[in-house]
Amino acid sequence: MPQPLRIAVTPGDGIGPEVVAEAINCLERLRKKHQLPLEWTRFPWPSHAWHEQHGEVMPADALEQLAHYDAILLGALGDPGPADDPERYLLSDSVSLAPLLDMRKGFDQWVCERPARLLPGARQYLADDRARDIDMLVIRENSEGEYVGQGGRLRQGTEHEVATQMEVFTRRGTERIIRYGFEQARLRAETRRAEGRQREFRSHHGQVAESQVCIITKRNALRYWGDMYTEVFEDVARDYPDVATHHELIDAACMKFVQAPWAFDVVVASNLQGDILTDLAAVLSGGMGVAPSCNLNPDNPDMPSMFEPTHGSAPDIAGQGLADPTAMLFTAARMLEWLGRREPLLARAGQELFDAVAADLAENGNQRRDTRAIGDSVLARLG
Ligand code: NAI
Ligand code: MG
Repeated sequence: MPQPLRIAVTPGDGIGPEVVAEAINCLERLRKKHQLPLEWTRFPWPSHAWHEQHGEVMPADALEQLAHYDAILLGALGDPGPADDPERYLLSDSVSLAPLLDMRKGFDQWVCERPARLLPGARQYLADDRARDIDMLVIRENSEGEYVGQGGRLRQGTEHEVATQMEVFTRRGTERIIRYGFEQARLRAETRRAEGRQREFRSHHGQVAESQVCIITKRNALRYWGDMYTEVFEDVARDYPDVATHHELIDAACMKFVQAPWAFDVVVASNLQGDILTDLAAVLSGGMGVAPSCNLNPDNPDMPSMFEPTHGSAPDIAGQGLADPTAMLFTAARMLEWLGRREPLLARAGQELFDAVAADLAENGNQRRDTRAIGDSVLARLG
């Protein structure tokens, strides 16, 4: 058997451990069934519980420890809930979420991929039946922008307090995320062609193409990075004459995500704007319970990529077995597919897991089921 690929499992807080448990059951089933070269180690950090015991969310050498792994499977970080327990240990969201940003930056996971496709069985929130055609990939810049964490508070607590929060955009960071968007658009067009379900997009210039990249900015008010994004987008687009191009301001994009989300293909957005848009996109594709996400470093195989659902720790339902593990299961499938770049057996297992989760959703998505029931149902399909 080839050298096993190693996963660091960090369940985190709230519903994190509940949904991660279902993912691990499925991974274990697939590992045994196909003798997958896969092993995992569970970490009690980052978490609220670790902070309560040690005064920090994770150990100082956490990134060094995680760097030895091929992937990180993370549940969620934040208030562990349940929300009606007034005695629970509380931390500010900025403290509990910091490890996530540290990992994304530390391992240069500069791509955050969030597909939004309304799969059969998922709840359709929009009344318009064209919602069934929603199939977009939101690519969020994940390494810089609004989330660089630079700034500070001056004269804190006084009436003359000043808070500054820097936004940092580099040409290199901008170019690589936009180019990645065009590459994904091409791949998606190829897949659709192979499956006989081509789509048509028209760009501002009237050009018709099989795929599209829409870039999001707020260049009317945030002109410096907005203008740089626009220029780089135009430069990179010249290398992809087969892909239609489009631009939306973030506020109009929110409106159009609700009004006509089926018109989007690949969407590239900054760190904050992509974060906000993808909660909206999650609802368009059935809700937080079914929306996967991943944080990728596409160019350095020595750095682990991180796989976590779009949702957070959901303190309002934590500890009650109510969380939908579907998002986590789709995320685990994407992790296997990603690791499949090194070991094809894993790519096949990823497809098998995706198909099982999608089939379960199609058949039972309209029923009210608890976390374990959904996990067990998917497990049964894996044989
Ligand atoms: P959230 O995503 O945890 O919850 C939003 C709403 O969606 C809640 O009503 C929740 O019950 C529901 N929901 C989320 N996941 C669900 C699932 N799997 N099944 C069924 N319903 C689900 O976002 P919220 O409430 O804004 O944040 C809670 C905590 O999570 C905060 O501390 C926040 O900082 C943290 N957070 C962490 C993230 C991460 O670890 N990647 C991402 C987003 C928030
Ligand atoms: Mg978010």
